[in-house]
Amino acid sequence: MISIKINTMAKMPAVGLGTWQSDPGVVGNAVKMAIEAGYRHIDCAKIYGNEKEIGLALKEMIQKNVVKRENLWVTSKLWCTHHAPEDVPEALNSTLQELQLDYLDLYLIHWPMRLKKGTKGFAPENFCPLDIRSTWQAMEKLLDSGKVRAIGVSNFSTKKLEELVKHAAIMPAVNQVECHPMWQQTNLHNFCKKHGIHITAYSPLGSPGSRLVKTKVNVLEQPVVKQVAEKLGKTPAQVVLRWGIQRGCSVLPKSTSEERIKSNLDVFDWSIPQDLMDQFQQIEQERLLRGQFFTHDTCGPYRKVEDLWDGEI
Ligand code: A2P
Repeated sequence: MISIKINTMAKMPAVGLGTWQSDPGVVGNAVKMAIEAGYRHIDCAKIYGNEKEIGLALKEMIQKNVVKRENLWVTSKLWCTHHAPEDVPEALNSTLQELQLDYLDLYLIHWPMRLKKGTKGFAPENFCPLDIRSTWQAMEKLLDSGKVRAIGVSNFSTKKLEELVKHAAIMPAVNQVECHPMWQQTNLHNFCKKHGIHITAYSPLGSPGSRLVKTKVNVLEQPVVKQVAEKLGKTPAQVVLRWGIQRGCSVLPKSTSEERIKSNLDVFDWSIPQDLMDQFQQIEQERLLRGQFFTHDTCGPYRKVEDLWDGEI
């Protein structure tokens, strides 16, 4: 497994198991299959509602000596209802308790939006103003507690990162965003590279089948992807994941099927030649997960989906 050195000097395994939309009752088994198959990176979030079951699976794998805690990379994310500085440690403690861990390898601000504590969903009245500076300061303080080893963000555009970077005493280690051949995010990549922020790709396969993907377009069926897969004798999913890794990203394919979990990890002992990598530049770009619900936020400066994402959708 290739690992990527982030700005804390820690090494993050380049492929992690995504757990968004992995249902309770299924996710624990997926985590166990993944660890047995060799995954050492599990991506979680409070809002996915499945951390308790993931915690049980991790505990079982550690107790059975399939893996040691120090050889696992576990990420989780702070939900928008806990952006008040005093709520940040409470949210982390709750996640650690559910995951049955003493520390996280990485803790991310899930979205640059704030919802009132105790609210559910994205009704306009649930939003309240976000002071990203004070939330980030609370994240920085978590590093002193030893309960997190690195901190970062998710779903931050360059505009929002610029705002954060201005005030940050500690740079985010990671920005986790949608990234795949149909949404390559070249500007964001360049910005993050300049600031030493690693990009982790969520929905690296384009989330085929997700109820939140409002388009019929399927990344795995793009002609370039299919042609490269055929040439290299790999599956479209493997090609798309390898493409992400060769661009310097870590990737988080979600699967609950044993066969797909295994094949999504088979992306290390081969590579995509440069001439074939170049062909991905022809692919028409379209953001698949637009986060429309965050335009209900009347407290922030963003009213349209385009505003959320540097004018690009
Ligand atoms: P499943 O869990 O049944 O394997 P993403 O990681 O981009 O969000 O995509 C997740 C979606 O892609 C899930 O629906 C998952 O279904 C499916 N998937 C995961 N691995 C593969 C694969 N190797 N080939 C095709 N679809 C896959």
